[in-house]
Amino acid sequence: MDKIAPLLSIKDLNVHFISPQAMTHVVKGINFNVFRGETLAIVGESGCGKSVTAQAIMHLLDDDTTKVSGEIWFENVPVHLMNKKQLQALRGKKIGMIFQDPSTSLNPTMKIGSQISETIIHHQGYSRKLARKKALELLEKVGISDPAMRYNAYPFQMSGGMRQRVVIAIALACSPMLLIADEPTTALDVTVQAQILDLLKNICKSTDMSLLLITHDLGVVAGTCDRMAVMRSGEIVEQGSVDALFYKPTHPYTQTLMTAKYDKTFI
Ligand SMILES: Nc1ncnc2c1ncn2[C@@H]1O[C@H](COP(=O)(O)OP(=O)(O)OP(=O)(O)O)[C@@H](O)[C@H]1O
Ligand SMILES: [Mg+2]
Repeated sequence: MDKIAPLLSIKDLNVHFISPQAMTHVVKGINFNVFRGETLAIVGESGCGKSVTAQAIMHLLDDDTTKVSGEIWFENVPVHLMNKKQLQALRGKKIGMIFQDPSTSLNPTMKIGSQISETIIHHQGYSRKLARKKALELLEKVGISDPAMRYNAYPFQMSGGMRQRVVIAIALACSPMLLIADEPTTALDVTVQAQILDLLKNICKSTDMSLLLITHDLGVVAGTCDRMAVMRSGEIVEQGSVDALFYKPTHPYTQTLMTAKYDKTFI
């Protein structure tokens, strides 16, 4: 296999939302790559199209109300041509995803351990006993103390930071090659944010997993990512190494962001 071929390659991706009244172009011909083992940040103001881009990559947008065009390649395989069954195998197994709204990620009526085990059984076909063992290992890996006791906890019995660790454990359950994390720490307080980002960074390093991190926090980008793509109104206006964009931005919008970066976030 070509070592420098990107793991994920997005070519001329467009997303339109269709309603009886109008057709809105929200992602406008974007191109980017994620290489093996690297962390790419997509940054941009609220509403610029970051989450819709992630949903389009994972084919999670509703066919009836959206029109998606362009090419999505993963390991040189055309994801844009995959059928439902192939997509299901890809999701969760090779590409993990952490959604922007953490409250939708866990089932409130199910013990967290079972939620992790079910994912493992579903994707890997493990026995219940083996899946439980793997779930306990994952809970430990994401920094949850006393996994055997926590296995039987319900989401409401955990803090926000712990719940997010469980969400990460589920996303990692099948050892994905790529994790797409949409604002994984926005709902958490600053100390917990730093812990979760450290955790993600360490997992990437130890497993060679690639990370596509969506955030509006430039502080997070500086501390976590190798490269970044700056989005504005559905377009990527500039992309490159984090160092280059922080210290020598060429696009006026990136320059404005960097001038204001001491605020760290933009909305
Ligand atoms: N289901 C939908 N139907 C119609 N328009 C939508 C839908 N989902 C998103 N949009 C619009 O698409 C644009 C991009 O939204 P998106 O959620 O990708 O923004 P974002 O960059 O992730 O913002 P934030 O930082 O606030 O999460 C926005 O204008 C949004 O209003
Ligand atoms: Mg979003």
